[in-house]
Amino acid sequence: MELSTTFTGLRFQNPFLLSSAPPTESESNILRAFEAGWGGVVTKTIGLHPVVNVIGPKTKFLRADADSARLSMKKRPGAALHSSWNWELISDKTLDWWVPRLGRIKQAFPNHILVASIMAGSGNDTELRHWQELALACQDQKCDALELNLSCPHMDRPDMGSNVGKDKELVSIVTKVVKDVAKIPVWAKLTPSTTDIVVEARGAFLGGADAISSSNTFTSLPLIDPQTLEFEVQVDGFVSTGGLGGPAILPLSLAKMSQLTQAFPDQSFSGIGGISTFEHALSYFLLGCGTVQICTAAMLDHAIGPNVIRDLNQGLARFLEAHADKGWATVDQFVGLRRDRVVAQSKIRRPDEKDYRGGYDAEGYAAAEELGAR
Ligand SMILES: Cc1cc2nc3c(=O)[nH]c(=O)nc-3n(C[C@H](O)[C@H](O)[C@H](O)COP(=O)(O)O)c2cc1C
Repeated sequence: MELSTTFTGLRFQNPFLLSSAPPTESESNILRAFEAGWGGVVTKTIGLHPVVNVIGPKTKFLRADADSARLSMKKRPGAALHSSWNWELISDKTLDWWVPRLGRIKQAFPNHILVASIMAGSGNDTELRHWQELALACQDQKCDALELNLSCPHMDRPDMGSNVGKDKELVSIVTKVVKDVAKIPVWAKLTPSTTDIVVEARGAFLGGADAISSSNTFTSLPLIDPQTLEFEVQVDGFVSTGGLGGPAILPLSLAKMSQLTQAFPDQSFSGIGGISTFEHALSYFLLGCGTVQICTAAMLDHAIGPNVIRDLNQGLARFLEAHADKGWATVDQFVGLRRDRVVAQSKIRRPDEKDYRGGYDAEGYAAAEELGAR
């Protein structure tokens, strides 16, 4: 069974990657991940300056009860995973720490795909050169691709993380600056926390991006404990917005991805958000993603997801076997097959067509032509 695929010119043994997050924060984790069978990994985001994280847990998991509407981070039997919530910053290790490790990982696993996630400020030319410095250092260690973190939702600076990802010009400038020095593919990881992600994606493609990765976590807050009246995650009673990942964001992220793949049907996309099984990944493939990335599910499975990747690979093999009669031998043959099934409400059949008219022309509503609708 052929699980391999080619994405942005790179050959992957399978289309499943660990996304940039704690599972890829160290050399030992990444080596374990490749041994476990992941086709690729995106490193924890590397910056030029060390960061200092908050005191206490940086990630917590929100769980739902089966027999009540209770949602809480408190551990209890029988509760199912709803989401992860984190306010972790980028890697707390320096570029100098990463450089020799990237080289060693690539030497040990030359046929696995190592993507370096990078981030710098973008407020002036010096900072834009930091992006180039990071890109060149990772490229020199034979990393296969770069992923630009334009999407971390908890950076205070207006020229970092998702604040860049909300600004189409900055997205374009940063991508172009990195493309100017990169000999390897450049993926732009965008934030889902914008009104129309297609706008920022256009900026990335204008800057020369080879692919878009989406979604990073969604801007969110932990719930307030009704007993203590404190946020379920807090330091000295205070919290700041963080990122939501895991099962809760799967449908949200699919909606973003559908907008992207419809707007740019000929471009490459790496789907992220809420994946823990092959069936979840399949939705992204069918919408037009060539690869997918996983974080929360892997964090909860021995830190790097050995069971998750085994199930993903087995699921893909079973799926290809079940559809062999259609001539599907690789992932590429079904990528995008359901991209065009997402349409406007008015295009969905109703029991009696003449009663609806797309919400136009009804009493009290403007006629379609007045609003310039098609
Ligand atoms: C604790 C934690 C740390 C993360 N750190 C990064 C990071 O450094 N860079 C990045 O691009 N994404 C980061 N992410 C986002 C993940 O890579 C991923 O986009 C997100 O969690 C959605 O995927 P999931 O639903 O599989 O968790 C982080 C996520 C978590 C939970």
